[in-house]
Amino acid sequence: MTMELPEALDLPVREARMRALRDDDWVLDRDLSRVPDVPRWTYYPADLSAERAREWVAHSLAVRADRRGGRFVVEVGGAPVGTVGITLRPDGPSVYYAFLPAGRGGGLATESVRAVARWALADGAPHVDARTMVDNVPSERVLERAGFRRRGLDVGPDGVQLTCWRLARDRQPTKQ
Ligand SMILES: CC(C)(COP(=O)(O)OP(=O)(O)OC[C@H]1O[C@@H](n2cnc3c(N)ncnc32)[C@H](O)[C@@H]1OP(=O)(O)O)[C@@H](O)C(=O)NCCC(=O)NCCS
Repeated sequence: MTMELPEALDLPVREARMRALRDDDWVLDRDLSRVPDVPRWTYYPADLSAERAREWVAHSLAVRADRRGGRFVVEVGGAPVGTVGITLRPDGPSVYYAFLPAGRGGGLATESVRAVARWALADGAPHVDARTMVDNVPSERVLERAGFRRRGLDVGPDGVQLTCWRLARDRQPTKQ
């Protein structure tokens, strides 16, 4: 199974757009790594240096080139405010995301996750998954609003408790 991501996806939010990650998005990754709840709730390391942020972006670009997934950047008025990625896991595609404080509170994360999940279902995936660390309530809300359902708990490689989520093709995300 492979996945060829589009260059851009539409977002129903004024002045917002979602485009494929680029080399120069290391600045966004560096900034995200400095927002305390990003390394707390995701696998972003804290305080990425410019060099490590460039490596982080290069890794995502390599995943996309291998058709194993990739990342989009969400821009508002041309300024990057967050990222949504999708990765091919053995049991199907799985989404992940992080937004700068400037991109939060307006439903942008929900709409961006919806857009990526819809694209994957339309591309033929029977379902799209996500995993949240237990107690990450803002992220749980994003997934609930986007139509994902809780499936149960799992333990990550690092021993962290995870909640598993799934959006099945027969449960397309609906607008609210
Ligand atoms: C998870 C994260 C992306 C959520 O961001 P967010 O801004 O809360 O999510 P949304 O963009 O969907 O915005 C939702 C908020 O906007 C409000 N909102 C306003 N207009 C809205 C609209 N049209 N649609 C949906 N929500 C809207 C909602 O009421 C909600 O506010 P509330 O939580 O006070 O009720 C963000 O907290 C984050 O980056 N966290 C750190 C990284 C992380 O945890 N990533 C996920 C790992 S699994």
